[in-house]
Amino acid sequence: MQSGLGAQRSLAYNRPSASVNEAVVVLDFGSQYSLLIARRLRELGVYCELLPADSSKERIAELAPKGIILSGGPQSVYDAGAPGLSEAVRSAGVPVLGICYGAQLIAYHQDGRVEAAERREFGRSTVKVLEDNLLFEGIGESLEVWMSHTDHILEPPPGHRVVARSEGGLIAAMSDGARYWGVQFHPEVAHTPLGRTILENFVRRICGCVEQWSTTSFVDETVEWLRERIGDRRAICALSGGVDSGVAAALAARAVGDQLTCVFVDNGLLRQDEADQCMAVFAEHLDMKVLKVDASQKFLEALDGVTDPEEKRRRIGRCFMEVFEEVAPSLEGADYFIQGTTYPDVIESAGDSGRHSAAATKIKTHHNVGGLPDTMKLELLDPLSFLFKDEVRAAGRVLGLPEQIVDRHPFPGPGLAVRMTGAVTPERLERLRRSDEIFISELRAAGLYQRTAQALVVLTSDKSVGVLGDFRTYEDVVALRAVDTEDWMTADWSRLPYDFLARVSNRIVNEVPGVNRVVYDISSKPPATVEWE
Ligand code: XMP
Repeated sequence: MQSGLGAQRSLAYNRPSASVNEAVVVLDFGSQYSLLIARRLRELGVYCELLPADSSKERIAELAPKGIILSGGPQSVYDAGAPGLSEAVRSAGVPVLGICYGAQLIAYHQDGRVEAAERREFGRSTVKVLEDNLLFEGIGESLEVWMSHTDHILEPPPGHRVVARSEGGLIAAMSDGARYWGVQFHPEVAHTPLGRTILENFVRRICGCVEQWSTTSFVDETVEWLRERIGDRRAICALSGGVDSGVAAALAARAVGDQLTCVFVDNGLLRQDEADQCMAVFAEHLDMKVLKVDASQKFLEALDGVTDPEEKRRRIGRCFMEVFEEVAPSLEGADYFIQGTTYPDVIESAGDSGRHSAAATKIKTHHNVGGLPDTMKLELLDPLSFLFKDEVRAAGRVLGLPEQIVDRHPFPGPGLAVRMTGAVTPERLERLRRSDEIFISELRAAGLYQRTAQALVVLTSDKSVGVLGDFRTYEDVVALRAVDTEDWMTADWSRLPYDFLARVSNRIVNEVPGVNRVVYDISSKPPATVEWE
């Protein structure tokens, strides 16, 4: 959804690295797993940032890294214009771990031999560790790894030793024993079960990182950052009921108390009891100033008869903008708008051209407000822009947000409107809401809610023939969707137990009038997406 948060607005990212003493830089050569490497390091309690492969010496030095990781990438070291092992990396004087393309770069640029291959080899493989070394400490003699490469290292550079080989005899890891380490496989993916140990060995044993990057210090620091920026002026924040905006708001409330006004728009596209729950948590439990705007009628009118998914999104975006225009007078005097954009969004929304230059990137589309009127001259503050989702959740816990907000699956800004194909009507919304409530409450009751990354129900525009007692029915089909994913860019469908699915299906057809069939969506992303619209 396109945002009205135009480039004319200034935007401030909260960069925690200012007070992080121990960082690791991940240089991105274009692998689909680059962000995952960064995430894995954060999970290990090591602060890291993902920077472009061609980052300057100065840019890298800003973080004073204790180590550098070179990601994989789609290119061959022999390609014209392929990124090289830059002077910035060579002169950094810290340990370097190359992964896949990164390892090939280390070999190629230090007089080793890399063999160009025509075919891509990918899949599981077993690797034999040939000698004791720091990178493989605690691993044992062999390990299962995930390979995904075209070229491979034929001969390590002078001074390097082969420290692991694959079953087929390929060089799986090499090192000079001190500064340079290279692995042909991907330690960052779940298909390399001991990959975490390898990354941990690199950052702790080889780079010597000892500190723990902690959310508690992040919260304290960020509260201070917001306090300094906002001073004695006023700020607003749009609450969506989701964890990101909730944590951003709670941080701002802790920083400036009553100077913050949250706006919660009930667009009529929310899930069962969501508006009440949100008000109970933020306004009552956390005692924050929340302006609740009931605009459901407005949104429903705007969506009347609209079936095209993008048109639905556009109209919802416009409605949010108008709602803000209407409430603007009561927000007069506010100078800041707090957003809950997170790190993957910042990186992804920058697009390929400026993928990592967070400070200079275009502003992230704010899905949940769709845009602010231009008459509201607000400076944007993004306190979460360097955090991953699980770190946002951890910050939420530190801030005392209840688990029901903190552990929530993501919910799209355009709400249930994009979870029903076809027209949006109050009756169809009710049908979807009730089905969704059954699915989610059963997931929670079965202890499965946390085992999926996101679960939802889609109301399809299809009807199917059924039978109830002696009668023929011709009613709606709903689809259950549950996915496993870490980054939402790729996702697999969750293997929920059959008995569980049977129970949910049974309850929905029995309890939700107008639905006589339940199907389970077994598509992965890509080629499908998580939401249906
Ligand atoms: P897709 O459907 O693109 O979804 O695979 C990936 C993730 O993004 C969420 N999503 C949205 N979130 N506003 C949001 O705040 C939106 O317009 C929007 N569209 C998709 C989706 O729920 C999933 O978590």
